[in-house]
Amino acid sequence: MNRREFLAAASSAAMLPLSGTAWAQASPRPLPIIPTTDVTDGIDSRIRLDLRSDTHDFGTGARSATFGINNPYLGPVLRAKQGQTLPFEVTNRTGEVTTLHWHGLHIPGDVDGGPHQEIEPEQAWSPDLPITQAASMNWFHSHMHGKTAQQTYTGLAGVLLIEDDASLSADLPSKYGADDFMLILQDKIFNSSGQMDYVLTGEVFEEGFTGDTLVLNGAIAPVTQSVPQGLVRLRILNACNARFLTLSLQTGPLTVIASDGGFLASAVQTDSILMSPGERYEVLIDTRAADTNALMVSFGEDEGLLGILGSVFGGGGTSIPALILNRRAEVGFTGSLPDRLAILPPANPNSATVTRSFQLNMGGSEELATLAALWGNVCGDGGMGINGQPMNMDRIDERVRKGDTEIWRIASDDQLHPFHIHGCSFRILTQNSAEPPAYAQGWKDMVHVENEWSEVLVRFDHPATDNAPYMYHCHILEHEDCGMMGQFTVG
Ligand code: C2O
Ligand code: CU
Ligand code: CU
Repeated sequence: MNRREFLAAASSAAMLPLSGTAWAQASPRPLPIIPTTDVTDGIDSRIRLDLRSDTHDFGTGARSATFGINNPYLGPVLRAKQGQTLPFEVTNRTGEVTTLHWHGLHIPGDVDGGPHQEIEPEQAWSPDLPITQAASMNWFHSHMHGKTAQQTYTGLAGVLLIEDDASLSADLPSKYGADDFMLILQDKIFNSSGQMDYVLTGEVFEEGFTGDTLVLNGAIAPVTQSVPQGLVRLRILNACNARFLTLSLQTGPLTVIASDGGFLASAVQTDSILMSPGERYEVLIDTRAADTNALMVSFGEDEGLLGILGSVFGGGGTSIPALILNRRAEVGFTGSLPDRLAILPPANPNSATVTRSFQLNMGGSEELATLAALWGNVCGDGGMGINGQPMNMDRIDERVRKGDTEIWRIASDDQLHPFHIHGCSFRILTQNSAEPPAYAQGWKDMVHVENEWSEVLVRFDHPATDNAPYMYHCHILEHEDCGMMGQFTVG
């Protein structure tokens, strides 16, 4: 479909009687390019992050109350290098107590930014983060227990890219905003005056919050971007509170080059990627294949407007074109698809000396609800937990020996959950009792769990003490706030 046909289809879709809260853009706006803070060349002072309360127009014409980090909504794209120590100064001007967690970083528990490292309003937190890990796309977000879902949704989130010598010299598109793009995907609800809404009901706790409107880098989908001929790189974060997203291309397969913890061994071609909240993937698109292409996103369920747009655009089911790429005549990155990307050690389960099992509990029991409330989880009337225990900030659930390789097995009572572990990257051995898709066989810090066991092979190389333990939890943020989280030390 060309641009004119797209616009015609989009405006006719917008005229259909829709459920009042879904806002599509009849004329797509440009993709917002998130400003970067790049310290790869050196650091001469503290890197300031100002958490603030602000307003932002997502494209509805109205300004919504938001949080942002150095920006009105969301944070900058931070870019740093392996071997650096990052001296942050995080100032909290949101008016609420919060924390800032570095999701994906292999750093000690006392600078991890979990729920124990609260930053009071008008106070600053100045952690020094020693970066030892290889090139990877990480992110940061609020981890204030009981408020993580709401604060992250409101805008306390951003991307932290780690580069290393290999990634900086890799034969890959790397011109930020030209052939290398950052995409932060979120789902939102806007009220009838066009303001972002977040409502907690019993059902929201059960399912996690899901919106009916897709937003990219703070702009309502679809958005457009012009790109040169050749390879284009998209670095994608699912920053939804609870929504799994299925990504595909309008024309051709996706070429996946990296997952949460860094490059895959070699590029993987796939028709689609199922992406949970918290996951990151990097993909390459060859724009020589078609003069327009689009990154298609499906919400996975029928959701009013998305369903309608999906059928209009023929994306299959409920896919909508989220990012429309219009190719220019100009030639950009002309290299070929990379062959080898990184050397990954085989994930050898025999190297593990300890096995731990975690059962994610969806509640339904009075006991779980009582304990969840008693221990300060935010849950409505329900309660969730892991191995029968809701989160308790005063209880250490697991003690890990530093340097040990372990197998963590995770299952759930009910529903699909994205499980995350702090302070590490791991390899997925099985996902729901099956081999994970090829694109999820590299370094990860998220694994999908639905009833059956998922198993990961993990080693912890950094310390976390009783006062500053690491977390493991479901990354449906409402489940996390409700108690589907536990704490562990490494020593
Ligand atoms: Cu992205 Cu403990 O979180
Ligand atoms: Cu994390
Ligand atoms: Cu969950």
